[in-house]
Amino acid sequence: MTTNIQNQWSSQMGFILAAIGSAVGLGNIWKFPYLTGEYGGGAFVIIYLICVVLMGLPIMMAEVLLGKRGAGSPVASMRNLAKEAGQSRLWQLLGWLGVIAGFLVLSYYSVIAGWTLDYVWNSASGTFATNNTPAAIKSIFTDLTSNPTYLLILHSIFMLVTIIILARGVQGGLERAVKFMIPALFVVLIMLLAYAISTPKFMDGVHFMFDINFNKFFYPDGENFSGKGILVAMGQAFFSLSLGMGAIMVYGAYLPKDASIAKTTAIVAFADTLVAILAGLIIFPIVFSNGLEPNAGVGLVFQTLPIAFGQMPFGNIFGSLFFLLLTLAALSSAISLIEPAIAWLVETGKCARVSATIVIGIATWLLGFVTIFSFNEWSEFKLFSMNMFELIDYVTSNIMLPLGGILMAIFVAWLMKSEDVTSELKVSAQNFGYQIWNFLLRYIIPLAVTLVFLNAIGIF
Ligand code: PHE
Repeated sequence: MTTNIQNQWSSQMGFILAAIGSAVGLGNIWKFPYLTGEYGGGAFVIIYLICVVLMGLPIMMAEVLLGKRGAGSPVASMRNLAKEAGQSRLWQLLGWLGVIAGFLVLSYYSVIAGWTLDYVWNSASGTFATNNTPAAIKSIFTDLTSNPTYLLILHSIFMLVTIIILARGVQGGLERAVKFMIPALFVVLIMLLAYAISTPKFMDGVHFMFDINFNKFFYPDGENFSGKGILVAMGQAFFSLSLGMGAIMVYGAYLPKDASIAKTTAIVAFADTLVAILAGLIIFPIVFSNGLEPNAGVGLVFQTLPIAFGQMPFGNIFGSLFFLLLTLAALSSAISLIEPAIAWLVETGKCARVSATIVIGIATWLLGFVTIFSFNEWSEFKLFSMNMFELIDYVTSNIMLPLGGILMAIFVAWLMKSEDVTSELKVSAQNFGYQIWNFLLRYIIPLAVTLVFLNAIGIF
């Protein structure tokens, strides 16, 4: 990966910023609240948090460790590490799985990022202030998603910016931006939280997020048991933390020898979780205070926050600032989604970085059409009762990323030499924290993910 980040900060900080840039994005502010709304609130949140702590954090450590030691694209890293550990070359397929997952995710991620871009303009031009009823705000969103040409323009702009940044290999600059962007996003979120607290139904939002009702969660229709919420909460933990597909592996190379893998990953996971929880605490009070439904789906954020921006003083400015920061946060995630594919193509020696970026960028852009049409022309076309966007999202978040994650866990905990692992972590094999981590990776994570998968395909 081309980066000059080490020259700019102590590298540990560089890694933390790059990883936070990757982790914090649409997953936290767009996806987490709408999934929480769809899966009924508190029970989803608690299972999500358990997945972050028991799976996300240990797997992030494992993935960083693989990247730090493998030092290449995910495909090459896994090939190198398999060789070092005397394992099958087939392990490079794990790198492939990540390359493909990143490409698939970015194809729709860019379309959604296009929506946020449109909302920068909508806020700035005062559209939300003049259309300030929940119904009018909702129709702004439905007008947007039913207009494929406009969605295509927005998607193209976002992909173009992503490609330009990647082709120039200026991640260093982007990470410098992250240093300001994340704190700025945080400040805007705190201000929005203050607004949410001032709404009449703030506490309803809090109860919705934190009252745990497993009945509603496991029996969504009141009768039949469904474990799907667990699969989705787990998938969301992987998605939000950027795990299981090599993004964090590629960034693991930023870590200098003396950095602490445990400490840095804990900071990244904490920051990511905080942003998601804040987003929920802002959005649900607005939902309840305006008589909206929490299960509005993908449009939830776009149909709630503008109400707040339309009402608050200087809402135009805050609104456009917020959506701009969200677009930038999406950009720093987008870059990490596709970097594994670019790094792989460059490594094959067939093309230079600029052409690799263009080729993969165009392929991603083209695939994005599928998502664009899922919201309008093809919205009736369904497989397994999901439209194409939902299907791509389901397969990547709920299957490919967790699968990548358990394979990483198994590789690190069962197949790598334990001296290599402990030396990367700079601990002794007797270290208690190490033993817990190793136990989670060896037994709990593979078992838990397998059970969730088996349940999802209806085996029990
Ligand atoms: N974590 C990013 C987000 O929450 C999305 C992402 C997933 C980025 C996987 C990289 C890898 O928006």
